[in-house]
Amino acid sequence: ITNRTFTMIKPDAVENGHIGAILEKITSAGFKIVAMKYTQLSLRDAKEFYGVHKERPFFGELVEFMTSGPIVAAILEKENAVEDFRALIGATNPADAAEGTIRKLFATSIGENAVHGSDSDQNAALEGAFHFAGREIY
Ligand code: CMP
Repeated sequence: ITNRTFTMIKPDAVENGHIGAILEKITSAGFKIVAMKYTQLSLRDAKEFYGVHKERPFFGELVEFMTSGPIVAAILEKENAVEDFRALIGATNPADAAEGTIRKLFATSIGENAVHGSDSDQNAALEGAFHFAGREIY
């Protein structure tokens, strides 16, 4: 399980037509897709998924944005997945993201930042299990 991470292509990137380009970056970087779905979070889903951020001033905005349209959710496999995926996506704020990273290429703002990547092995497991049943993971 420690060689896996969880990602979402967020509503901004879906709306802007970047699903294909983002999946291409991910697979070209050596990540194998072991689970994937096109879905939309309910208000309840989003509040639960982002529960750790509920005291943050941006929580309402985050939940509203993440429920505003469809997303792609996926579990990715690669050696050192969590760390390598965070390097591939770049800093949370696209203004600070390194050249060539997914957020530098496709994100618009700190809130609408194109992709999610788990920040630890433990959260990767929790987030993957939130979105996928065991039989949906290959
Ligand atoms: P992510 O790391 O995927 O999960 C938490 C999200 O909260 C983060 O991406 C940002 O999209 C969002 N976020 C963090 N800081 C801010 C902020 N200052 N304003 C709005 N959204 C934020």
